[in-house]
Amino acid sequence: MSISGKKILIAISGGIAAYKIHFLIRDFVKKGAEVQVIMTPDAEQFVTKLSISTLSKKPVYTDFYSDNGTWNSHVELALWADVMIVAPCTANTLSKMVHGMCDNLVIATYMSAKCPVFIAPAMDLDMYMHPSTRKNLEMAESFGHVVIPAESGELASGLIGQGRMAEPETISNTIDHFFNSHQEAQTLQGKVVLITAGPTYEALDPVRFIGNHSSGKMGFSLAEEASKRGAKVILISGPTAQTINDKNVELHKITSAKEMLAKVFEFYDNIDIGIASAAVADYAPKEVAKEKIKKNDENLTLELVKNPDILKTMGEKKTHQFLVGFALETQNEEENAKGKLEKKNLDMIVLNSLRDEGAGFKNDTNKIKIFTRTEKKEFDLKSKDEVAKDILNFVEAQLLK
Ligand code: CTP
Repeated sequence: MSISGKKILIAISGGIAAYKIHFLIRDFVKKGAEVQVIMTPDAEQFVTKLSISTLSKKPVYTDFYSDNGTWNSHVELALWADVMIVAPCTANTLSKMVHGMCDNLVIATYMSAKCPVFIAPAMDLDMYMHPSTRKNLEMAESFGHVVIPAESGELASGLIGQGRMAEPETISNTIDHFFNSHQEAQTLQGKVVLITAGPTYEALDPVRFIGNHSSGKMGFSLAEEASKRGAKVILISGPTAQTINDKNVELHKITSAKEMLAKVFEFYDNIDIGIASAAVADYAPKEVAKEKIKKNDENLTLELVKNPDILKTMGEKKTHQFLVGFALETQNEEENAKGKLEKKNLDMIVLNSLRDEGAGFKNDTNKIKIFTRTEKKEFDLKSKDEVAKDILNFVEAQLLK
């Protein structure tokens, strides 16, 4: 498999090796990849925007603002990319990356990126060997980035040693290898997956609400993973800080449980798989005050009414959909989870117990057990991205039965 169709973001920082990036861009474009280049202001001393943009066939950005007054969104650039390559990466840029010194477009984009990051350092040999560079490279690796080591040879200073940027061919091979080994099988091609995510907020008055601590991470990880497997994803989320920029994922933002229910049923008839990872508020205030509630009395009693159970309604109206629920429990976990599987007419339920450390709402990790009517499987504590893979692997296995 090739890098054809992949989106490659190249960040050039100010080193003489920048001239070699022309060859790298040409190589990627020839192989059918889309290449977007951004540069630090110093990089412009070594290469011109014109030569780079001619090869990449896209405008090159060096600043947050363009001359014509438009804003170059570092977030959009970052989320667009399948991989980001910082090459050449100078000692200065490397240091800013690992310490979060966000003073230019390259660093802001890097800090917004969720994709794998590759770093091709280039500097003079003493700088390359300096303990601070060694530490910074180690730190970059500890963030999960791939460092493509500098090579040995004659350096711009005339000195001979390690520090020159890896050849474009080496960088290109590294990226090829990455895509070859990470290409996911399109196992959900043609399927429509609906996912509910995040909390719901139930208004009390114009400024207050009843809500919960759900981060939405589990649902967004599931959406990303289902999309990677070729599914069309409808992601219906309550208020969260999560973002997603994926052409296969349609994000619908809602606030309350009632809005979530209505949105789900706009799509329900045409979905193949429904996954309810949202932490829906079970109750909502009976009345929403038109004006801000004043603190006149010592006590305030709120009357709450039951919210619709979205997943249960999905279960009741099920025709062909494969339904997955979540259960977050603190006691009698397995019994309660299996009870919900029956009560809500589900095909599968994912249990997380708050008694397990690292499981639940706010963490980046989760520890789950999956139940169907006949099976039970227990998983280790993993990142929510890995948990999303386990859940979808399980769903796919059930669909094949
Ligand atoms: N759920 C839903 N709508 C609700 C409540 C829950 O769609 N109003 C879904 C959740 O997204 C989750 C599953 O139902 O997939 C289980 O939710 P949970 O709150 O754990 O169970 P409840 O049925 O609400 O029971 P209880 O709160 O009594 O444990």
